[in-house]
Parts: sequence; structure tokens; C-alpha cells
Amino acid sequence: MASVSNEEINDIRASADIVAIIGSYIPLTQKGKNFVGVCPFHDDHSPSMSVSPEKQIYKCFACGASGNVFTFVAEYENVSFIEAVRIVASKCGKELSITTYNNNVSQALKEENEIMDLTQKFFLNNLRTKFGKDALEYLKNRGLNEDIIKEFGIGLSLDSNDSLYQLLLKKNYDIKKLLDLGLVNSVNGKTYDMFTRRITFPLWDKDGNIVGFSARVYRDEKDVSKYMNSRESKLFKKGETLYNYHKAKDIAKREKKIIVVEGFMDAIRISSIGIKNVVALQGTAMTTEQVQLLKKLRVKVILCLDNDNAGLIATINNGDELIKNEIETEVIRLSGEKDPDEYILANGGEAFKNNVDKPLSYFEFKMNYLKQNKDLNNVEDLSIYVNDVLKSLTEIDDPILKELTLDKMSKEYNLSIIVLKNKLEQLEPVKIKKEIKSTVIEKQRKDVFMIGSEKILYFMMNGEEYIREYQKKLGFFEDSLYREIANEIVYFYETNKEITVADFITYVNDKNDIRDKVMEIVNDSANDEVTIEAMDEYIDALSRVLVKNEIKRLKKLMKSELDEAKKLEIALQIKELKKEDV
Ligand code: UTP
Ligand code: MN
Repeated sequence: MASVSNEEINDIRASADIVAIIGSYIPLTQKGKNFVGVCPFHDDHSPSMSVSPEKQIYKCFACGASGNVFTFVAEYENVSFIEAVRIVASKCGKELSITTYNNNVSQALKEENEIMDLTQKFFLNNLRTKFGKDALEYLKNRGLNEDIIKEFGIGLSLDSNDSLYQLLLKKNYDIKKLLDLGLVNSVNGKTYDMFTRRITFPLWDKDGNIVGFSARVYRDEKDVSKYMNSRESKLFKKGETLYNYHKAKDIAKREKKIIVVEGFMDAIRISSIGIKNVVALQGTAMTTEQVQLLKKLRVKVILCLDNDNAGLIATINNGDELIKNEIETEVIRLSGEKDPDEYILANGGEAFKNNVDKPLSYFEFKMNYLKQNKDLNNVEDLSIYVNDVLKSLTEIDDPILKELTLDKMSKEYNLSIIVLKNKLEQLEPVKIKKEIKSTVIEKQRKDVFMIGSEKILYFMMNGEEYIREYQKKLGFFEDSLYREIANEIVYFYETNKEITVADFITYVNDKNDIRDKVMEIVNDSANDEVTIEAMDEYIDALSRVLVKNEIKRLKKLMKSELDEAKKLEIALQIKELKKEDV
């Protein structure tokens, strides 16, 4: 995959003001030289994000997010880096040169998207022809008006003699490609349309490209499945799509929540009453990829699955998975009708909105669920119940909720609070250990050597004079990761004849082995004053550590050396080094 030139990207970055761009997503206020705002990348309550107009980078003190204008947009909008470059360019009234941008999407993929768009136009048009009368009638009867039909691109596939296949063949597309995309099917050498006489619903990927279709019967037809979906293809991976995600994601971020339903008809209905932050699983089970898509939004997830037993079980399974992934989860259980679509048709939009306004926390929901079919006056049932609740509690991060729950159970069932606490502690250790290790200890463990090295690397990203200083006084890192970063900095400078922290961040973005470390270094040092004197202090400190280490090594060597002449030589070396070590 060819990419846009680094030069062009750096030009766009130089003409974009990071304060203006980030300020268009989150409110920023000036504080000294920098600007601060509430970090959108974690559940922030006080402004932890600092944006530097001078360095054109941002950093969050609390969660460690940091980067330049492109990484911010990529993270915030949940798009690829190159897409973020395009967004920033257009915000500055620039355009990525078409050729470079298109190169990025391979030629084959371009053709596949083209086929999908043609297919969609064909389906849309069919609905408006004389063949579409019954289908339109069906949609109207289901209470789907023109606006909704348009908004969701609802269309119609025809009888096989008016086929999509004929149309696409005329355009000279390779039959194999049409088969691969699941638009046509071939049996005994005869090829025909995959979707016939069905109402079609386009399915989009997370960026809004049409990647497949789902199609519903609308006439009385026996022995056919209600919905037919596109086959899995290079474009369409059912488990990776969340219906309506591309439209819902921005509103979800604004509202800080997203509603998850089973069927896309439910999502369409909910959207029609003005709740646009809704997505559909297209089934009951939530896949790992779907969980990750939701996690990226960093908002609360409200599960609103069907009002049947399958929906109930799925609420528990999906809820457990969401909680494991540290996603705040709430639950709505509707009563009476089968699904949200039918609930809204029967009770009206306001009734549904009332439900959305008072969901249960997932934990509360699960507590009630665990009580089902148990007689809590029976000792055995009660014991199972209490153990189940304690197990669920281990997945929860909120210590207050834990305390309150234990207290409540203790009073309600007359159990000793000490016993409950002990049992919970027994169940808990794994997770706690892991968390402490990855945050607190990790940070404290950095020794002089690491701090010094990382500071020096940070200085080097700030311009030629710092690179020269490094070359003159140090020239080398023993640690291979630091050495690699230093080499990349020098290489970047020599290729571009200049270097800034913000541009170096762009450069390392696709270098998986060093990117995280570089970002960590930037985050740790972004507010340091950058002067040659400060850099020299770190170089001196580091040199002293290096000398000490070398002395240690030589002493060991001397002990194991048998040859007296060589012993003396080493002793002299140590003496020389000790002069430096003051
Ligand atoms: P449902 O049967 O709950 O669909 O299946 P629904 O939303 O109520 O559909 P209507 O109201 O009868 O039109 C939920 C989801 O499961 C998938 C579809 O993605 C559907 O949205 N499904 C269902 C299939 O893929 N195939 C089927 O035959 C049925
Ligand atoms: Mn339904």
C-alpha cells in the first residue's frame, strides 16, 4: 500500500493549529503557555489534558494519552491515521492530493466498493419502479416513512429475470469477483442473483462504506428464511460489523452512551423516534470485534435486547463480556412486546424514551437475575446466590458499590460481613495484582539510567542542536530499544533536515516496535523546558551511571583474572575511570 508522502503530511501538520483542531472537539481553556481540557480518552472529571501550541502536541496527565494533531483525530474519530490526516487537511481548507490518497486504497478494493455502490443504486431504484409497489406498501404498513426509507438506504431486489447480475456483467466485472462479494450465486454452471424479491438493507463498515446487504421477505413465502445476509467476503465480515455504527458513533460520544439492540429493524425504529445513538448486533451474541468497536467509543453501553429468553441470556453473556472489558454497562428490559421495534409501535416513542432514561446498572440487573428461580429461604439456594453475587463483584471496580452490596447482603440474609469480605478477597486477588503491577510499580521502577536515557531522547526530538549534543557527548545507547529510537531520530533529521516532536510522532506512527515507547517518552517529558544546559545535566548523570557500571564490570573481571599483568592493566583502567566518577 503506497502512502501519502511524509513531506505532504508534515506540511499539513505545520499548517494545522493543534489548539484550534482539538478545540473543535473538546472545550479548551488557556493556562499559562498551554491549554487544558477534559480528556476524551478516559473517564475524566477534571481537565487532565494539556495541549501545547508551542510544541503542537497534547498529553493527558491521568491516562497517558499523548501525540500530535493526527493521533488525536485518529483516536477521537476512531479512524485510521491516514484518514485523520485527510480530516485535518480538510479542516485547514486543504485536500490530500487525490492520487496519493487513492493509492492508499488498493485498486481492487476500489473496484469492489464501486460494485457495492452500483448494486445499492440498483436496489434503491427498483423500489421506486412499478415492481416496488408491494414492497413500499409493506414498509408503510410497518410504519416506516419516506425519510426513514431514505436515511437507511432501503431498497428492493427483483425477480431473477430483471437481475443485478445482467447489469453488472454489462459493466465487464469479473464473475469471480461478483461471486466472492456474494452478490450472485452459481449452481450447476448457471449464475443468478443472490437476493431476489426481497427488501434490501445495506450494511456498512465502521467508516460507512457499503460492504454487504441483508434482505427481508415481504410477501407470504413459505420455507424461506426471513432475512438473508451477504456471504462473508473480503469486504463483509458479519462479526466485525455493528449495524448503524458509522452514523451512531459521533452522537454516542456526545451523549456519552450508546444503545445496543439485536435486530437492525429495532435500530431503525429507535432512530426514527430521534434516538440516533443506537446500533444492532444482528443477532443475540456479541463478538469480540463488536466489543472492541464499542470500547473505542469510551461511552456507556445500554443493552436493550429482545424480550424473550434468548434476549435475557444474551444480556447476561454480553453484559459479562462488556464488564470484563471495563465498559460501563446498563440494561433495559422492555415488557409486553417482543422487541424494541414492536414496543415502540405499541406504546409510542415517549414510553421507550422513559425506559432509556432509567436503565438498571448491569450489576443491579445481574443481582436480580441471579435470584431468579431460587428460593432464598432455602439455605442451599441462598448459598449459591451469595457466591454468584460475590463472583460478579470481583468484576467490578467500584469499591463503594462493593461495600454497599456486602452490607446489604449481610443485613438482608443475616450473614456475617467478615465472612462475606473474606470470601470476596479469596475470589479477587488475580485482577488486583495485575493492575498494581501495570500502573504504579511500572512507573516507580524507572531508574536513573532509564530516566536519563529517555530525557535525552526527548531532547533529541527537539532540533538539530540537541542531536549534535548527543552525538558529541554520548553517541550511543547500550539499551537496544533506546539505541533504535536514537537511530530513528538521527535518520529522521538527516532525511528532513529538521525535526520537531510533532513531526517525529507522525514518523513513528507505523513503527510498531518503537511507537509506544516514543509516545511514553513524549508524555513524560512534554512539559520540560528544553535547553542545552538541561540536556547536559542528564548526559552527565547518565555518563556517571555508565562509568559506575563499567567500574563494576571491570572489578568483576579483575577478580576472575589469573594473569597478574592483565590484573594490573585492569586496575589501571579502574583508576582512570574513578577520576571521571566524581
Ligand atoms: P429478529 O428475528 O429479532 O429480527 O432477528 P427482527 O428485527 O425482529 O425482524 P423483523 O422485525 O421481523 O423484521 C434479529 C436479527 O437477526 C438476524 C438479522 O440481522 C436480524 O436483524 N436474522 C434474523 C438473520 O440474520 N436471519 C434470520 O432469518 C433472522
Ligand atoms: Mn421485529
